[in-house]
Amino acid sequence: MAEYIVNVRDKRSRISPEIYGHFSEHLGRCIYEGLFVGEDSPIPNVNGMRSDVVEALKKMRISVLRWPGGCFADEYHWKDGVGPREKRKKMINTHWGGVLEDNSFGTHEFLELCRQLGCEPYINGNVGSGTVQEMSEWMEYMTFDGVSPMADLRKQNGHAEPWKVKYFAVGNENWGCGGNMRPEYYADEYLRYQTFVRNYGDNRVFRVACGPSGDDWEWTRVLMERAGKYMDGLSLHYYTVPNDWDKKGPATGFDKGEWYKVLKKGLYMEQLLSRHGAIMDSFDPEKRVALVVDEWGAWYDVEPGTNPGFLYQQNSMRDAALAAMTLNLFNKHSDRVRMANIAQLVNVLQSVILTDGADMLLTPTYHVFEMYKEHQGATLLSSRMDCGQAGSGENAVPQLSESASIGQDGALHLTVANLSADDAAEVNAALLGFAAKQAEARMLCAPFNAFNSFEDKEAVKPCAFTGFRLDGESLSFTLPPCGIAAFTLRP
Ligand code: AHR
Repeated sequence: MAEYIVNVRDKRSRISPEIYGHFSEHLGRCIYEGLFVGEDSPIPNVNGMRSDVVEALKKMRISVLRWPGGCFADEYHWKDGVGPREKRKKMINTHWGGVLEDNSFGTHEFLELCRQLGCEPYINGNVGSGTVQEMSEWMEYMTFDGVSPMADLRKQNGHAEPWKVKYFAVGNENWGCGGNMRPEYYADEYLRYQTFVRNYGDNRVFRVACGPSGDDWEWTRVLMERAGKYMDGLSLHYYTVPNDWDKKGPATGFDKGEWYKVLKKGLYMEQLLSRHGAIMDSFDPEKRVALVVDEWGAWYDVEPGTNPGFLYQQNSMRDAALAAMTLNLFNKHSDRVRMANIAQLVNVLQSVILTDGADMLLTPTYHVFEMYKEHQGATLLSSRMDCGQAGSGENAVPQLSESASIGQDGALHLTVANLSADDAAEVNAALLGFAAKQAEARMLCAPFNAFNSFEDKEAVKPCAFTGFRLDGESLSFTLPPCGIAAFTLRP
């Protein structure tokens, strides 16, 4: 029996909605086909954005979307993607699959997509192969309301009003595909580039510096020491790769050993958040600078027969469990983690949506984001789960993952995931300071390796969960193996 304590009297940090953020790169079928099909497509669309995908993402309450990369960002020259489409430069996407990039999706299209989705845009600028002037002019183009060469160009291109663009990253993975820089060198570059990413009118830019890959503590230390005062966020990238990078393992058809291996590797996120957070604390004890985990998720071998450069992978209950556990961790670290972007939105890596021409499906990961959406903007509560382990040996993990928050309307939200592929979990929860009168719950529950395919799109979907007992301040329930539950309780 697991003992779960939620102390409603002990309110912690606000859970930034941007923790439930996403990432869309010019990679494979993410932008083209997955999001943008063009106005003339037989696939129903509004201004070129496919309506089925937009509607599903709105229902999931997508909060922020990062674009145009990734590694693509440090090769992207934004002026190639504005103006009449037929005149835009055509080029080869050398980084991802060697396919034609016709630049038909550019700044106007991305900001139109964000408008339709009702989410914040998060733009990633080019440090690796771009200039300070180019980056500076991009912000001027998007946000300046007045007479200037870039504002005039925007008007000429059909958008009189400036957009609001809050989140802007100065480079991506500049320790790797963004220029193979040393942290000292990048810190100087960051300071120079960010100076010219200006605030126009009342648009206030939240500047994100390129942060470490995984456990590169030194990168974080150098960046915070040299440039911490000039940034609002520092990024962190961490992917869960079950085996070696050249033989990662399949997204489906795995055994229970591989289930636990992925969860154990995913749980490393906890150490990354704690240790990078501690380094940041030593320079920024007020936690002004956010940790922005703008790439995370599972990375498997591509689906057989697909372009290796497209990073297309299926998505199973194992990915749902990884997402559930990771989002609980982000909630618990929301005093420092104020944005996170799972990679990537559609058809690439751990996606929430897969498409096949005009067809689309929601993945198990989608359902987790949708079920967890009530945490967005709510206040984290102090909570603790005393439970046993699941799995064995070096891949053992705590059987249960949880987080708790209270919304502005006074509703209590609990999300609990049973990480065991073998055993049910009996849970006794004490809700200190909260006498619940009403409760409702939903659960995602399917065999550990189940997934949604185009032949069976609803093999994994949430259902109402009624198997709980509520008695004032106490709640008890049994979660089946792999079960992921979201409770809403009202006084
Ligand atoms: O998400 C795929 C790639 O992974 C991104 O382009 C890059 O930033 C990271 O290495």
